[in-house]
Amino acid sequence: MDVIIRKEDVKDYPVVFDVIQKAFENEEMSDHQEHFLVDKLRNADSFVPELSLVAEVDGEIIGYVLLTEIDILDEVTQLMNKSLALAPVAVLPDYQNQGIGSALIRASHDKARELGYKSVIVLGHADYYPKFGYKQADSFGISMPFEVPSENSMALELCNNGLSGVNGMVIYPTAFFE
Ligand SMILES: CC(C)(COP(=O)(O)OP(=O)(O)OC[C@H]1O[C@@H](n2cnc3c(N)ncnc32)[C@H](O)[C@@H]1OP(=O)(O)O)[C@@H](O)C(=O)NCCC(=O)NCCS
Repeated sequence: MDVIIRKEDVKDYPVVFDVIQKAFENEEMSDHQEHFLVDKLRNADSFVPELSLVAEVDGEIIGYVLLTEIDILDEVTQLMNKSLALAPVAVLPDYQNQGIGSALIRASHDKARELGYKSVIVLGHADYYPKFGYKQADSFGISMPFEVPSENSMALELCNNGLSGVNGMVIYPTAFFE
């Protein structure tokens, strides 16, 4: 199966909406609002179009990943450090477990690195993300602005020492909560 990963285009929005909705349909831990979240995030200042990627097979979009800009607030110095949030990643049920989610995540990391970002934060399955290098966020001194099990709150350094000297609370764009 040939999988092409490319930047999302405006004309892809309706198909991506359906792909996200279908991917999360049977997901227990989901609020089933992820497709609406992406619509909101695309309109936020923190949206980085180059980090909105689709996976295509035979010209059909079957997967999607988005990295959005966030800040990590150092509560001592009150300084903000830029980072990214991975949310969501979605693959149509018929195409899951064939490496497409992994390919999307790795491609998003590569692009983020190329753009100069140094880290990514994710809230997700504790047994899915470590294979990409994610570690518990609290091991970097990074906390979330809401209650979440620490094993589900993870951070990745995109380069050596990408989170060195960066700690504090993640500040999400308001679009995440609207
Ligand atoms: C999570 C998701 C994006 C993974 O994409 P994928 O293409 O199926 O994943 P890959 O083929 O790259 O990886 C498969 C591996 O991930 C594991 N995996 C898949 N979904 C998982 C989940 N929800 N929790 C834990 N592990 C999971 C599989 O067991 C498999 O493990 P293995 O490599 O040890 O056999 C996809 O299953 C999906 O869209 N799920 C519904 C939406 C969702 O939960 N998104 C993530 C939260 S933002």
